[in-house]
Amino acid sequence: MTRFATVVFVCLALSSACSSDKKPAGGSSAAGESNLAGDGSGGSLPGYAGRPNEGLGGDGNATSGAAGESGGDANAGMGGSTEAYPIPDSIPDETGADLWLRYPKVAIPGRLAEYQAAFKQVVSSGGGASTQAASEELLKGLSGLTGNSVTLATAVQGVGAVVIGTPTTSAVIAGLPLASELPALGPDGYLVRSAKVQGQSVIAIAASTELGVLYGSFALLRQLSSHGNVANLSLSSSAKIKNRLLNHWDNLNGTVERGYAGSSLWNWAELPGKLSPRYKAYARANASLGINGTVLNNVNADKQVLTAAYIAKAKALADLFRPYGIKVYLSARFSAPVELGGLSSADPADASVQKWWSDKADEIYAAIPDFGGFLVKANSEGQPGPQTYKRTHADGANLLAKAVAAHGGIVIWRAFVYSTVAGSDRIKQAYDEFKPLDGLFDDNVLVQVKNGPLDFQPREPFHPLFGAMPGTPVALELQVTKEYLGEDTHLAYLGPLYEEVLKADTQVNGPGSTVARVVDGTLQKHALTAISGVANIGSDTNWTGSHFNQANWYVYGRMAWDPDISAQTAAEEWVRQTFSNDPEVVTKVVGLMMSSRQSLVNYMEPLGLAHMMGTDHHYGPAPWVSTLTQPEWNPAYYHQADAAGLGFDRTATGSNAISQYSGAVGEAFGNRATVSDDSLLFFHHVAWGDTLDTGKTLWEELVRRYSQGVDDVGHMRDAWATVKARIDDKRFTEVSDFLQIQHYEARWWRDACLSYFATFSKLPIPAGYAAPAKPLSFYQGLSCPADAKKPRCPQVYTGDPSPAILP
Ligand code: GCU
Repeated sequence: MTRFATVVFVCLALSSACSSDKKPAGGSSAAGESNLAGDGSGGSLPGYAGRPNEGLGGDGNATSGAAGESGGDANAGMGGSTEAYPIPDSIPDETGADLWLRYPKVAIPGRLAEYQAAFKQVVSSGGGASTQAASEELLKGLSGLTGNSVTLATAVQGVGAVVIGTPTTSAVIAGLPLASELPALGPDGYLVRSAKVQGQSVIAIAASTELGVLYGSFALLRQLSSHGNVANLSLSSSAKIKNRLLNHWDNLNGTVERGYAGSSLWNWAELPGKLSPRYKAYARANASLGINGTVLNNVNADKQVLTAAYIAKAKALADLFRPYGIKVYLSARFSAPVELGGLSSADPADASVQKWWSDKADEIYAAIPDFGGFLVKANSEGQPGPQTYKRTHADGANLLAKAVAAHGGIVIWRAFVYSTVAGSDRIKQAYDEFKPLDGLFDDNVLVQVKNGPLDFQPREPFHPLFGAMPGTPVALELQVTKEYLGEDTHLAYLGPLYEEVLKADTQVNGPGSTVARVVDGTLQKHALTAISGVANIGSDTNWTGSHFNQANWYVYGRMAWDPDISAQTAAEEWVRQTFSNDPEVVTKVVGLMMSSRQSLVNYMEPLGLAHMMGTDHHYGPAPWVSTLTQPEWNPAYYHQADAAGLGFDRTATGSNAISQYSGAVGEAFGNRATVSDDSLLFFHHVAWGDTLDTGKTLWEELVRRYSQGVDDVGHMRDAWATVKARIDDKRFTEVSDFLQIQHYEARWWRDACLSYFATFSKLPIPAGYAAPAKPLSFYQGLSCPADAKKPRCPQVYTGDPSPAILP
């Protein structure tokens, strides 16, 4: 027996606010939270009110609209069933191991009947391994969704055929009018369209390449897993960025730097002989998003990865990933010619060093003909690099670039340089070192730049190198693993963070010079383009340490394919595929996801504060740390709290970091009248009593935001509790447990930081807000484990974390 949910779609229950009508606080559009999160200050959480006539379609109750495959779908889905969504009496437990590729049988009778009629056979008449991967996935997915056994055929045998192929592998595809549209979609692009074959209605999945066919197959399955319409289907999309990579910070001993999902996915000891089934599942998941490259090892690279034994292991993975379009890359240690080759130097100008790299590249390419290339962290945080030999980053990059060039390989050279010599402002270092090198890199080199100038903080302004190196392809590095955003236990959906940086306007060529247009190469006319996400994947059954961290892998991949896809669209896609198409679930869960990152910013580092995490583990609060030997290791270096006020003066009266941004942007950041409150303390030292855009003093606004952040986690818990009957118990409970930890820890962050800052402001907590639960000495005395043990710091899990804003 099933119950039926009748959903009257009004607005989200997360808060009293149905939608935000607030303007960004401050004039800069460069670093503002999307309007989905209002002015970024919190207030009451904005809800997710669905997107009339936009989105994946699905069951009309939730977001009712045309499917929104980005990249040009004219018509996909259109509306959806108006049938009520059934709530089964029991829902089988899930581990999360299937990610978003679950393919459960469609729960709505009308939609199910429609799919059962439309999908009976997959027609594939030729092609190689990628086509086979596509038909395998379609058989699995369509059989699961329809509850029928969908079969493989070589010719259309009647109704219900899905014909797949390229004009070369399939005569049927070659004969369709749509074939002429394929070249314009590029090598990875695809068309999924209703068509006629000998008078018979079919759905065609067509592309110029077999990989494009695989991507189109996943697009169809995404549409169907979201319960989208299939009548007059038309999905079409092209990749906007050429190299869409995951960067694994995995060590050869099985540990993962900043990994919170168990140990490394790569079982180096077993490779190459034994291939875990997880590797194929990993390849499928990445291909479903369009990710086409993986850097296997940590940027703090172990030289051993370049030995013959490890090249053989990498080859085994490369062979397995090839049908899924995923190239293997390695992080290279710059000093390897000395350490492995026995040379006396690793100087790029040394002919024997050049030969060593060239020979090494030949050796790798002999094993892995489509090896992607090298990722390099050099002269940063103790890593070796060309500066040791008084050479530049360009000299170093070009050394490796020349070695792989003949094989079609690329070098991705990181601009995250963190030297041991303290400058006037740590965030200026990358620009100062790299900007003068613009135009000096070989054609097959990209410079990879983190989203912000500091280090993957909950919020940072965009990195000033975007747009500043017109003669060099610049790749964007995002962190998917949440090193500074609560790691595994805190629910923080990173879509809004990624969207914020991609939409940030560098203004280097006037308005519209967004980071997305720099990275996709259109602004500065680069054909070589790349984006990287530091992976959050590990050996945990659910892959990412928490169920919601899967969404960050998902949204990273979707935005790597299309940097213009919205965070909200990706969230909705993910929820529908991962949890349920139940409109109640979609609405509530997308709503809490969309507000989650801003809530975290509020309870950790509001108003542009940054880097106040505990030393090493980067988890709990430690704004008081000020005695570490290098100044910029200390949180106190970043917040600069004193009796006068709070914040880092990066204007002309301070470090003048604003001068690294193009004129209008730097001026906006540098001016108290125009800088967003979200970035205020990143650029300005502000007096405790100064009035902000909200009309409150700095101290009052700080207390308000910290408190709002805590209470918003309480709202997230409430929202999650309402979907209990609609999600399997196992995943529901695991998420609930983490939300409870997050709630306590949000309060820990608030109370610790406010108690500490009060020692400078000398001001009391204003009326209407809860006093810190414990004295500052308690928080300073806590010793919480650095490891990823859950929960980490039980001493703070007492009392009621909310309300922080008193009723
Ligand atoms: C951060 C992180 C390090 C990492 C570094 C990098 O500083 O904490 O673990 O090695 O970034 O990006 O290279």
